[in-house]
Amino acid sequence: FVNERTYQRYLQENREEEFHKLVDEGIRRVEEQLGQEYPILIGDKELRTPSKFNVRSPVDTSLTLGVFQRDDGELLRSAIKLARESYRDWKDSDWRDRVELTVKAANELRRMKYELAATITFENGKNRYEAVAEVDETIDYFNYYAQLLEENRGYTREMEGRIVKGEHGISVMRPYGPWLIISPFNFPLAITATMTLGALITGNTVVVKPSSDTPLSAYKLVTTLRRAGFSAEVVNYVTSPGEVVSKVMEENLDIAGFAFTGSREVGHRLLKQFISLKPRPAVLELGGKNATVITAKADLRKAVEGTFRGAFGFGGQKCSATSRVFVESSIYQEFLARFKARTETAQIGDPRQKSTFLGPLINKGAVDKFRRYVDQAISEGGRVITGGRVREDTRSYLVEPTIIVDLPYTSSLWRTELFVPIVLVKEVQNLKEAIRLVNDVDYGLTAGIFSQDTEEVEYFFKNVEAGVTYANRESGSTTGAMPGVQPFGGWKDSGWTGRNAGGPYYLLSFMREQARTTYD
Ligand code: SER
Repeated sequence: FVNERTYQRYLQENREEEFHKLVDEGIRRVEEQLGQEYPILIGDKELRTPSKFNVRSPVDTSLTLGVFQRDDGELLRSAIKLARESYRDWKDSDWRDRVELTVKAANELRRMKYELAATITFENGKNRYEAVAEVDETIDYFNYYAQLLEENRGYTREMEGRIVKGEHGISVMRPYGPWLIISPFNFPLAITATMTLGALITGNTVVVKPSSDTPLSAYKLVTTLRRAGFSAEVVNYVTSPGEVVSKVMEENLDIAGFAFTGSREVGHRLLKQFISLKPRPAVLELGGKNATVITAKADLRKAVEGTFRGAFGFGGQKCSATSRVFVESSIYQEFLARFKARTETAQIGDPRQKSTFLGPLINKGAVDKFRRYVDQAISEGGRVITGGRVREDTRSYLVEPTIIVDLPYTSSLWRTELFVPIVLVKEVQNLKEAIRLVNDVDYGLTAGIFSQDTEEVEYFFKNVEAGVTYANRESGSTTGAMPGVQPFGGWKDSGWTGRNAGGPYYLLSFMREQARTTYD
């Protein structure tokens, strides 16, 4: 298993121009597809509803990316019914065949890399480097999960114990049935993929329901899986509105499990509804309120770059985004000055341009939220040292990366997931105080430290309550986990299963154990 890391590879090989040419071609291909209508996919049927919704690009709201079907619940129910029927055969498919299909799908995704990256850019405004990295991440999930199945020989193990002579025990991990996959706007391809494939490769069938802001990447994922040979009945696609989905989830006992990535509030509500009639498995990846600690022993250059990328990469619209920064007093002023200066160099604008670091936010609601949080911080005594403004460009949702200091610790902003490019910075006396503050939230997703002292780093890892931790990560203090390298998932209110995506235990969440005993 080798990670994709496309852009780094082009850089190392001094072929950067070729990279940009391929990205530009991808952009042109997606431009040619603008305005198409996309059906709901149930088995081999392409279905249309009388009611539709348009998806406009946050990059330029005059562009309609696609027209999608607004299902009132009827099609979601028939998708689940078909996924239940097709489960009967799929559950007994040979795991080697599922591995083969997965590897084929990974190759097909690689073939479509730049079109998929451009689709992400148009759909959620991610810059080209991060969009290509997201496709790389998706390919990595496929290859990594295929490898896991191989390594674990389909999760079947001979048991060694024998109580009675001639007794033979085997442990076999088996699927549950049809899973509903509910995916978010911020990683419309990679997060949809990890959950969808997690269920499929372990022998479950799926119905994919993407965020209504970004249904196109998921459509392309599902059609790619089908082209690679996954049968249409096992991977279905619906675009029902959220209210419809939550109602169907509560009532429809044919859904065996659901995987969701999104906000804590929505995740907890869906989980309660889902298990109200019957306990059923769920895989939840929820929000974060991630912190970075910078001690007096930090390499400040790395700390500044890493915090900048962690807080403002994709406009803070990542559950892993750095949202709080705790800095030891002796370096506080210097860090702040350099962090501010670095932030002010960020190019804000159209993410189709190669020089753009920060594209638009996902929608108008996010811009309103950004304004509200900045106003709240100021009214509570916080000070904006850079940013804070909305770029009044009527055809996009551009806002400035924003650093806030001196915000009283009683402010609810210290505990709320913001999901916009705002970071709160606070001076602390020592590492111990910093870690107490890092842990002083309900979330426990990612956390980072900058320190050149291995004892400090060790102390941080041991005491911090988070599922993904980094020391001295210049590419993004708390962000950018890659499959097979940094298993990604949260503790506390940030997660549910304790088994991280892209890690060695993830697939176990989609299976249940069966002990099989025979006698000579
Ligand atoms: N997996 C992404 C990261 O680590 C966030 O969802 O940044």
